[in-house]
Amino acid sequence: MKEKISQLKKEAIHEIKSSDTFDSLKKLEKKYLGRKGELTDVLKGLKDLGKDARKDAGQFANQAKQELEQALKETQVSLEQVTGVKIVTKNDWVDVTMPSKLSLGNLHPLSRVQYELEDIFSSLGFMILDGPELESDYYNFESLNIPKDHPARDIQDTFYIKGKKDQVLRTHTSNLQVRAMQEYGAPIRAIFPGRCFRFDATDASHDATFNQVEGLMIDKNISIANFKAIVDSFLSEIFNRKIKTRLRPGYFPFVEPGFEVDLPCEICKGRGCKVCKNSGWVEFMGAGMVHPIVLKNGGVDPKKYTGFAFGFGITRLTMMKYKINDIRHFLGSDLRFLKQF
Ligand code: PHE
Repeated sequence: MKEKISQLKKEAIHEIKSSDTFDSLKKLEKKYLGRKGELTDVLKGLKDLGKDARKDAGQFANQAKQELEQALKETQVSLEQVTGVKIVTKNDWVDVTMPSKLSLGNLHPLSRVQYELEDIFSSLGFMILDGPELESDYYNFESLNIPKDHPARDIQDTFYIKGKKDQVLRTHTSNLQVRAMQEYGAPIRAIFPGRCFRFDATDASHDATFNQVEGLMIDKNISIANFKAIVDSFLSEIFNRKIKTRLRPGYFPFVEPGFEVDLPCEICKGRGCKVCKNSGWVEFMGAGMVHPIVLKNGGVDPKKYTGFAFGFGITRLTMMKYKINDIRHFLGSDLRFLKQF
């Protein structure tokens, strides 16, 4: 038996090695190793042998089979090299239409809403500006008409930097108002989205890190009516339905007059509930006409130009839009939360 196999192997390898086309290789593979191939035939005969002889001849036959396979492969590779043709077998190709096992990442909800805001304001002719999160006391406070001893600093307490007396983590995106005017002058239309920080105790609606967006529009004859038109149209876009806002007086040292803008309460649809303290409205943003002192600090002539500014929490807006009930989800890195967006 072993001799028969040995003889067969010799012949087969010789034929394979002298084969000079892919076609003949394929035929030889079939001739020796196919279902009705010669070596396969010999292997089938093993069952008639005694136990020990079967084991011995079986091992020998398997080794011969491997050698044939090896010879086939080698000859194919050298044929490929000679002809420059590559034979692709099923194991070599990738089906690009197969669904991937890797799950795709997605945008963080805050980025998603920020990008939406940027698109809406761009369509209204606003630039998108960025600026430092580590800011000088001057741009964060003084340039905005908030001197060192002003009580308005109390509600915007922040983090101070050791060894850098004049630097703070910015408490609002208003730090870019004067920077933007100095850079671009008037007229100007811009929004500044970004991260802000306050020394606040954390609870369901407060975090020491949060995102805001500031808006600034300065031109000749800008009035509160322009502000209301812009704000109502962007809110209607972002909520996908007509939104009515309510303006009431509010105090911020960098605007005059200043106001707070309220939105109808989402929870009770304006009827009155615990969340809105029965008023039907929830406070949404601070705004006002840019104070002449701030215009001057930005190098803009208050006799020629007027403008409005507003600022609100992207974090708060995202909570309203997606009905998220705890601010701590945003920076909690819990995939069960993040994967929903
Ligand atoms: N910076 C203010 C805040 O963080 C909001 C604001 C911006 C108010 C612009 C008026 C004008 O509360």
